[in-house]
Amino acid sequence: MARRKMIYEGKAKIIYEGTEPGTIVQYFKDDATAFNAQKKDVIEGKGVLNNRLSEYFMTGLNQIGVPTHFIKRLNMREQLCRQVEIVPLEVIVRNYAAGTMSKRLGIDEGTQLPRPIVEYCLKDDSLGDPLVTEEHIAAFGWASQQDMEDILSLALRVNDFMSGVMMAVGIRLVDFKIEIGRVYDGDFQRLIVADEISPDSCRLWDIETGQKLDKDVFRRDLGSLTDAYTEVAKRLGVMPKTSTPITKPTLIN
Ligand code: C5P
Repeated sequence: MARRKMIYEGKAKIIYEGTEPGTIVQYFKDDATAFNAQKKDVIEGKGVLNNRLSEYFMTGLNQIGVPTHFIKRLNMREQLCRQVEIVPLEVIVRNYAAGTMSKRLGIDEGTQLPRPIVEYCLKDDSLGDPLVTEEHIAAFGWASQQDMEDILSLALRVNDFMSGVMMAVGIRLVDFKIEIGRVYDGDFQRLIVADEISPDSCRLWDIETGQKLDKDVFRRDLGSLTDAYTEVAKRLGVMPKTSTPITKPTLIN
């Protein structure tokens, strides 16, 4: 049997060539990194949970007409996706102040923002993904004016969807990051949501207790990351409420 071709290995995922032209396979690793990979660990079961959770969110988005790269989950750690050209921006949507926004602007974490605020960072690990303005994006040609309108619309639709889904299970969507991919249909090109949406890329706080259920648990040493992600998965019904811990992989299909 021919060995499949690896296209790219990132911090939390490996991308392989897909079975059909124009597709890729996204493999979710257990590796956790923070602070531009200065902090690293392997968290058993994280990849399985993120594969499942990203499937759940991307499927929901596809169903409400927000286009994503997700085609189908293949197994516990892999999903088949459309191949895209990644726009070199990290698109962050914030509903409450936290993280770098709180640090940068001196706003207490948890302060509700007057409206969702969208920020753009250049995707460049060697520079630490710096915050950039639309002026930079236009001047350096990272995305066109039309792209930026489409990206803003996608980001806000994802925010509405994710906020609602989370609110329904008692979780506050504080902020999140998405990546955008460009696909070509004949002479036309359009932008779709790519990469992953998971507790690695969102801030999720329990509405009642404020307990953090996202990657800040790892960044700030607040306990078990697997327990936090499992809690999100259980509340969403992505995993049966009674299932044994994720570290027993045979129970998750
Ligand atoms: O670190 P910061 O506060 O700017 O992060 C905002 C949101 O974007 C958080 O939910 C964080 O998990 C996510 N993010 C990400 N990948 C990055 C930077 C931020 O998923 N490289």
